[in-house]
Amino acid sequence: MRVLVIGSGGREHAVCAALKKSPRVTELLCAPGNGGISEIAECVPVKATDIEGVVALAKERAVVYVVVTPDDPLALGMVDALEAAGIRAFGPRANAAIIEASKVFSKSLMKKYGIPTAQWESFDDMEEALAYLRKVGAPIVVKADGLALGKGVVVAETLGEAEDAVRSMMLDKKFGQSGARVVIEERMTGPELTVLCFTDGKTIVQMPSSRDHKRAYDDDKGPNTGGMGAFCPVADYTPELAERCLHEIFVPTVEAMNAEGRKFKGVIYFGLMLTPDGPKVVEYNARFGDPETQPVLSLLETDLLDVFEAVTDERLADIDVKWKDAFACCVVIASGGYPVAYKSGYEIHGLDEAGKLATVFHAGTKAENGKFYTNGGRVLGVTAVAGSMEEAVRTAYAAADKISFENMHMRRDIAKSAFTVR
Ligand code: AMP
Ligand code: GLY
Repeated sequence: MRVLVIGSGGREHAVCAALKKSPRVTELLCAPGNGGISEIAECVPVKATDIEGVVALAKERAVVYVVVTPDDPLALGMVDALEAAGIRAFGPRANAAIIEASKVFSKSLMKKYGIPTAQWESFDDMEEALAYLRKVGAPIVVKADGLALGKGVVVAETLGEAEDAVRSMMLDKKFGQSGARVVIEERMTGPELTVLCFTDGKTIVQMPSSRDHKRAYDDDKGPNTGGMGAFCPVADYTPELAERCLHEIFVPTVEAMNAEGRKFKGVIYFGLMLTPDGPKVVEYNARFGDPETQPVLSLLETDLLDVFEAVTDERLADIDVKWKDAFACCVVIASGGYPVAYKSGYEIHGLDEAGKLATVFHAGTKAENGKFYTNGGRVLGVTAVAGSMEEAVRTAYAAADKISFENMHMRRDIAKSAFTVR
């Protein structure tokens, strides 16, 4: 079967690597892909947000199945457009991808269906937003309504910080139209974790729990990034808690989407906080997380294409999705200065040595004449699987330390929280 994957990050490299193992995938294409992906798939230079371009490519190359991984094309209706052209695709349609694309939508959904989340209000008018902030005070959280590369959230310790956030979103339009509306919500406390679930709108299959590290520097300092590393599974997420989340959050969410006439088929990302009042939703995403996918899919034993197609055909209940009983850790190697300002185009050394110890998923890389060069903020995701979390972390760092390029940066404390007793 000829399969096309849309996207160019570490997550897409992990998805391609898993699909490549399927005996039914005879040809793998990726648009636009990256340096690492080009070693296992044919990369085609069509942008992930180019709906018409992707549909044309799929037709031209007689692609049988398309996997749409990133948030933007999902929100723009790439799956709808492919289906309209008679091409099967994995991922939610636009009317369901809105669960990520609009925070006002997702917060309203949770309110209507009693799904636990932080108290909130939304505003179209800046003066009203500022007046509300002065009334409720800090600490408080300000979020841009729309997609903002995971960076449209400010957890403000002071009223001044919160006011600045509202002004930069609504007046200075830091995130363009995404910030024309803001959500202001109660600050929750507690450990955070991610649970990715496959769903066909009827059945929900939880993947092993994972935890991302969003800040740029050690000890959760510095600006928010797309994610600097992740590990899986998370010990706090006990079988009892998984059962509770299934009944209080996951099933109600999937049923709420059905009740709204927005059947969700694909991967739902549940960003959870384990608050003193129980687990609550921090955010929903309509897709696999990056970098969570790199460690999570490293533990998958079942053929990923079988799982994807079962979701598309709404027969997920018939499939037994199996996972390795092991631990995985992914350390992201970034360009120094990311997420603010950084340079690209540096040659990357040590990839072969690192690859002997762990799996090196590429994100912002480019291949040229047999060499690899940096080509983005997050460059690589070095991912190790082992029988213990200690070993997975040690191996991931041993491999990451073989790699070098100019002005390279990585956090040194990925998965540290896995060893902290709470
Ligand atoms: P989001 O993009 O919505 O996941 O937010 C990014 C990060 O901001 C989350 O991973 C949390 O660490 C933090 N955050 C978001 N909402 C809240 C909240 N209501 N209370 C505390 N922290 C939050
Ligand atoms: N790692 C966070 C995200 O994918 O949104």
